Amino acid sequence: MIASLEARGYRNLAGELSLSIDPHLTVFHGLNGAGKTNLLDALHFGLTGASMRSGAIKNAIGFESDSARVEVEFSDKTGTMHKTLASLDRSGQRRNLVDGAAPTASVPLPRVALFHPDHLQTIKGPPAHRRALADQVAGSLSPSQTDLRARYGRTLAQRNAQLRRVRAGELPVTELEVWDSRLASEAAPLVASRRDAIEILAPHFREAAITLGLTEPGIAYKTRVGGDEESIRLRLAELRTEDPGRAYVMYGPHLDDLHVEAEGRPLKQFGSQGQQRAAVLALLLGERSALAGAGRESPILLLDDVMSELDPRRRELLIGAAVAGGQVVVTATDLSQVPSEGFAPTSTSYRVEAGRIDAGADSPPLAEAV
Ligand SMILES: Nc1ncnc2c1ncn2[C@@H]1O[C@H](COP(=O)(O)OP(=O)(O)O)[C@@H](O)[C@H]1O
Ligand SMILES: [Mg+2]
Repeated sequence: MIASLEARGYRNLAGELSLSIDPHLTVFHGLNGAGKTNLLDALHFGLTGASMRSGAIKNAIGFESDSARVEVEFSDKTGTMHKTLASLDRSGQRRNLVDGAAPTASVPLPRVALFHPDHLQTIKGPPAHRRALADQVAGSLSPSQTDLRARYGRTLAQRNAQLRRVRAGELPVTELEVWDSRLASEAAPLVASRRDAIEILAPHFREAAITLGLTEPGIAYKTRVGGDEESIRLRLAELRTEDPGRAYVMYGPHLDDLHVEAEGRPLKQFGSQGQQRAAVLALLLGERSALAGAGRESPILLLDDVMSELDPRRRELLIGAAVAGGQVVVTATDLSQVPSEGFAPTSTSYRVEAGRIDAGADSPPLAEAV
């Protein structure tokens, strides 16, 4: 659970900013360009050491500053408080500390789940986005599986490099056998981990998607890779003899996809923008509820720029479901777009103006319980 955020020199955030984060719902509201997304980004940077915006990390240093520094205070499962520090300066020096020392596995950092309008690519974009999602869900459900994807990717790249040498006549084709065996031994657990993760996610996704207004939603893992390691190895051997000149392996989990659908049709081809957005949100909410079901800590949910796109009833449903699953931080141009009373046990709102938290008017600098 996150308790507070402090930032200095981070993007347009002015001065020494310090604010508490509500255990349930925190709202940043203000005009376009005020710094609402930058506040979410500061939280993201404080917890992960990376900006949620693309581009060089140095771009996160405020135009007028030489360095950026973010601290996030959080409590662990036992209620003990900890503090992260992430900083960088223009010379490229970076620090990521937890309780003043290098991070260790003994103090796991709170995880972050982010909705940003660009994330519609998860549904609309090429399959690589959905493979990444499957691997991320698999890794969050079983952290020991986090590196399966990277290992397979490395072996595939090495195998393809060998293949180029075979084609250039530098190596006999039999050299590929050992690489295909390795590829098969890494493909099988990757496929199994994706299949298991999506199977666990599917009912949670469906429930969240129905809540958000999708009809007959579904998610399924699609792979052409069947069977165990041995059958994968045999198939790779077949392909090798059928088409030895083929430059890349056209069989394997690097070609997998997820089908996300509603009313029996893929949302990628047939979904409206609103349906695609609902599906992305349902993936986030579904993953949090799957994690809760597995007894794992729920990631803090950052919802950027989503409220204005939803009708009032969907806003209520979204906030209700999001808050039920753990801590939530939302941005909106107008506070009235975020239903809080009756939808969150407590909430705190901050008005953001030109990179400052406006302590006047509706938002005191410290938590206001509603
Ligand atoms: N490194 C930086 N230093 C100063 N300002 C920045 C930096 N990076 C982005 N900004 C500015 O921050 C402003 C607020 O951005 P943002 O948080 O996205 O606003 P919004 O409230 O609409 O979400 C933008 O005008 C942008 O130019
Ligand atoms: Mg924004």
